[in-house]
Amino acid sequence: MVRAWYFNDDGSDRRSKHRKDPPEYVSVEELFTNVGVECYRIDVSTYDNDCILAEIKKKRGYKYEDQLICTKENFNNIKSYYKEHKHAEEEMRLVYAGSGYFDVRDHQERWIRMFVSAGDMVVIPSGCYHRFTHDYNEYIHLKRFFLNDPVWKATLRSAGEGDSRPTHATPVQQELLQAAN
Ligand code: LAC
Ligand code: NI
Repeated sequence: MVRAWYFNDDGSDRRSKHRKDPPEYVSVEELFTNVGVECYRIDVSTYDNDCILAEIKKKRGYKYEDQLICTKENFNNIKSYYKEHKHAEEEMRLVYAGSGYFDVRDHQERWIRMFVSAGDMVVIPSGCYHRFTHDYNEYIHLKRFFLNDPVWKATLRSAGEGDSRPTHATPVQQELLQAAN
């Protein structure tokens, strides 16, 4: 399961936990209701047959996917992922193997660090600033899903634009909220 906590900006290496002492944890429920991030558990050994992932993709309208294997050796290719950025579409990523950190901004601009490992899938809303990095294992195999164009387009924070997360729950999120009540 995704574990999340408020990021401690202590200047240490991006791969370290950056957890406060005492830690300030954020539950997956809080991630959803306060930040708009959805977390799912997918069984990576059965998802080809159990249809859970296929259902989620269908419901949200995903048409393409690719995969990305990030190692110590090829980190230079994905270095830009640790620059704060946002996308015009939601970002859905499944961890197939390995682990790493997604950092997302809450509505008060505070960073929340999410630790993800095999079987964790996160959906970061469109317009929500975030970034990604390895942990010290420096290995993660991600599946990336694309609604339309299978092209990675990001707007870096330095472009000066603010957060543009939808203010209302998407239809899928409304369903989740109803199911939770
Ligand atoms: C991405 C992540 C890693 O945009 O933020 O692919
Ligand atoms: Ni991104």
